[in-house]
Amino acid sequence: MRFLTALAVALACGCSSHEEPARAGVEGWDREIAVPVAIDRNPDPNVVEIDLEARLADVEIRPGVKTRAWTYDGGVPGPTIRAKVGDELVVHFKNSLPEATTIHWHGVRVPNAMDGAGGPSIAAGATFEYRFRLPDAGTYWYHPHVHSAAQVGYGLYGALIVEDPGEPWFGDEATIVLSDVGLLEDGTIGDATLGGPIADLFGREGDPMLANGKVAPTIHARAGRPQRWRLVNAAKSRYFQLVMEGHVFHRIGGDGGLRESPVDTARLLLVPGERADVVVVPKGAPGAVLPLRWVPFDRGYGSAFARDPETVLSVRIDAAAEQSAQPLPTRLRSIAPISLEGALRRRVEFTQMEEGGTTVFGIDGARFPAGEPLRAKVGDTDVWEVVNSTDWNHPFHLHGFFFQVLGNDGVPEGEWKDTIDVPKKESRSLVVRYDDRPGAWMFHCHILDHADLGMMSTLIVEGDGTTVPTPPGHAH
Ligand code: C2O
Ligand code: CU
Ligand code: CU
Repeated sequence: MRFLTALAVALACGCSSHEEPARAGVEGWDREIAVPVAIDRNPDPNVVEIDLEARLADVEIRPGVKTRAWTYDGGVPGPTIRAKVGDELVVHFKNSLPEATTIHWHGVRVPNAMDGAGGPSIAAGATFEYRFRLPDAGTYWYHPHVHSAAQVGYGLYGALIVEDPGEPWFGDEATIVLSDVGLLEDGTIGDATLGGPIADLFGREGDPMLANGKVAPTIHARAGRPQRWRLVNAAKSRYFQLVMEGHVFHRIGGDGGLRESPVDTARLLLVPGERADVVVVPKGAPGAVLPLRWVPFDRGYGSAFARDPETVLSVRIDAAAEQSAQPLPTRLRSIAPISLEGALRRRVEFTQMEEGGTTVFGIDGARFPAGEPLRAKVGDTDVWEVVNSTDWNHPFHLHGFFFQVLGNDGVPEGEWKDTIDVPKKESRSLVVRYDDRPGAWMFHCHILDHADLGMMSTLIVEGDGTTVPTPPGHAH
């Protein structure tokens, strides 16, 4: 079905450079990882209007065992929201959870009041209407920004795909939300405080790992026929380092849509919050099963020691190759580097402090909401140096604005990012320009246990003549 639609589109647009091969893929190839797509109830082709409810529901993670999870519309992950670039998205949201929540649209350049973070939350039983335009094609996701380690860990997350109808066909497409869940023997999800302060510090990695809510599912393939995987790391703490033996990942994009040029990698790393858009060309004889493996990544003391690789999902070759895959275009898009001329410089530091005999994390020595927010003006260009003086890696995430990472040569890289790893005792520099969306925007470590510990702060972007009040709780 999906294949036929894709084929029809390919024929209709007459895309010449990178057509979908005439030979079909495997019918029902992605059935095991299928996630419902949110139903658009608005006939306007440029508006996607959906209902979404956060509620407790029983899901089946281990076969035959019911697990009470916190869900969007009863599923883990929640429904995939699909729209095309430029569309307006309207979400009639109902909070049927036992506590307050919000929805944060991770990566989307929303107006500040729609960001679902830092502002008022939606009380248990209350409703809220999110309404904003989707200005950029890409792979995004949505999740709560209240008690996020707990709420995300209990199952609240979903993918948001913003398509660019002008994009060539790269392969049979699947959106794959990677996560994990702290499942106990009896099938319940362990409390978010399990393990105490040591677990806060380490960041809780659940077991088992999940791909679209399934444990080690299988997808099917025809050898030589490319698949495009839009991967989202929705785990609250786990780094996903992925390997598929004998294969490379052609990384065509990530957080903010396509990269300028594809880049090949045998080990694909996604830190919490990050996305990767990759093309994989499965190879093997019919009947071969290719495991996609999670490989331990050393993000600091205790994170990789005595841990074995695990299968996240498997790709089964059902049929032989008919024709060899066309090479990817060497240029996917042009991304103008943000000019560094006149840029302001700022430095933020991920810090660890001793408090009452335990180590805690913060930013610039303070735990959110203590500490002073940063200030900037609409139209400013800033170079951020993000320094990590702690003993563990931390994924840095900025709300509201994409940035470009500066390479070792100091030149901005050809990709739009909103989340990057900052290795222990290292720093990363990035450049960001604030377009006209004033407000208080959060930035934080996306290991959600760390964010909740206080590794979070606010950037206040002021427009002409507007003054953005300091959010409640902050020192100033
Ligand atoms: Cu996914 Cu504050 O972020
Ligand atoms: Cu975000
Ligand atoms: Cu962290």
